[in-house]
Amino acid sequence: MAFTLNVNGKALSADVDPDTPLLWVLRDSLGIVGPKFGCGVGACGACTVHVDGQPMRSCQIPVESLGAAKVTTIEGIGASAVGKKVQTAWSELDVAQCGYCQPGQIMSATALLSRNPKPTDADIDAAMAGNICRCATYTRIRAAIKQASG
Ligand code: FES
Repeated sequence: MAFTLNVNGKALSADVDPDTPLLWVLRDSLGIVGPKFGCGVGACGACTVHVDGQPMRSCQIPVESLGAAKVTTIEGIGASAVGKKVQTAWSELDVAQCGYCQPGQIMSATALLSRNPKPTDADIDAAMAGNICRCATYTRIRAAIKQASG
């Protein structure tokens, strides 16, 4: 079945089963590979994208449920002022180690700063709790969020 999705401001079409998770559509049908497959069951956060500005796990969203919702991935987040600040802080503080989880981390951090420009450590911990980093870059993640909020 053909679906037209709004991804990073572009209308993109994919011919997939209605229950195909958004992550698969992005990566396998549309070639948008920034969102990563970590667990496929909503437990790691590597696949985080924004749907109408909210951080969501794309492995848990059936494509048929999206309608006209605006999907933003790591490839498009730099177009927003907050996303750009977060990416700059990530780069300046060398947050990434292996890097695999970092697109999801940046998407969650950008969503946090968009709704709460001055988060406390507790706010950061709560907002980022669903994004697992096996390299344990959590200290640098928190520092980069603080820097981007400054
Ligand atoms: Fe979606 Fe892990 S791949 S939460």
